[in-house]
Amino acid sequence: EQINKGKYEHYMQKEIHEQPESLTTTMRGRLIRGGSCKAKTVLLGGLKDHLKTIRRSRRIVFIGCGTSYNAALAARPILEELSGIPVTMEIASDLLDRQGPIYREDTAVFVSQSGETADTLNALEYALENGALCVGITNTVGSAIARNTHCGVHINAGCEIGVASTKAYTSQIVVMAMLAIAIGADAISNQERREAIIDGLFDLPNKVREVLKLDQEMKDLAKLLIAEQSLLMFGRGYNYATALEAALKVKEVALMHSEGILAGEMKHGPLALVDENLPILVIATRDGCFSKQQSVIQQLHARKGRLVVMCSKGDAASVSVGGSSRVFEVPQVEDCLQPVVNIVPLQLLAYHLTVLRGFNVDQPRNLAKSVTTE
Ligand code: G6P
Repeated sequence: EQINKGKYEHYMQKEIHEQPESLTTTMRGRLIRGGSCKAKTVLLGGLKDHLKTIRRSRRIVFIGCGTSYNAALAARPILEELSGIPVTMEIASDLLDRQGPIYREDTAVFVSQSGETADTLNALEYALENGALCVGITNTVGSAIARNTHCGVHINAGCEIGVASTKAYTSQIVVMAMLAIAIGADAISNQERREAIIDGLFDLPNKVREVLKLDQEMKDLAKLLIAEQSLLMFGRGYNYATALEAALKVKEVALMHSEGILAGEMKHGPLALVDENLPILVIATRDGCFSKQQSVIQQLHARKGRLVVMCSKGDAASVSVGGSSRVFEVPQVEDCLQPVVNIVPLQLLAYHLTVLRGFNVDQPRNLAKSVTTE
């Protein structure tokens, strides 16, 4: 067991730190740089015979549980943008509870690290019965979801042992960004955008390597938060999913209450919680929502909120109000890939919080890596 962990103390720690490599493996052979006059493109072998059908679908439905659901949520905006097809989100158990409508004209995308989660598998059976084209995105070759879907993409992140998913999350987002590019590849109008994302993907492992240098800073932050009852995470746009996923990590392993909040909903309830005691982490990296997040920070500050702000390199001054908040900077990447970079320091924060609080990082109480019963 020690050998597998290499120089690391825990699997979760190892899996967080190996993300530059796991992302490289996820993209290997799938990004095509293009020659002098050929466009850059994406090649997803498992989908090539189905892309036309996917492009003709009336709706794309993402279905998953836990971290896999959050990864799909992070990829939703870019899929909508590049495909022009409405994308809806379903937590597998909720789709089944409601017996929600799934049609023959739908493409249903099943996202699952293990490929064996019972709720996701049951939802797959349900979607197959309803005639949807079913696509699997899993990390496990030969898993039930990989076998029973019509087509799919393996994320190739390598074996993930820590119960809390880390490297699978970032690889899932990257696969879904590549999926968005592949579906949108017949549209001239967004070719530049697609190529910019492909360039961003090539450079992403380096950016993740850079953000991993925040390890000590996240440990210091964890020391400050060690005794807290609760931690709120504010995000929006591409990074609403980051807020949900960061809160899930803190809950799962650090056993601390944490909630991901859509910043656009702040005034519809969460603002009532704000005081000088409750720590609030605000994700305010550069994208189309940046100025709205700046205004959220100001409003939280006006209510004496105890803020920790994540911003893009060089933006610390534009996000710290009155010098009272703690700020840390992350490298900026193409907006739709920013969730991959942004989750990394928050995974580190959850990891350090857990170790400092004395809990089992790799096997949190009551949880299983793969939930194979309803
Ligand atoms: C369990 C795990 C989570 C995981 C979820 C979905 O709850 O503890 O880490 O995100 O199942 O698992 P899947 O294998 O379908 O991605």
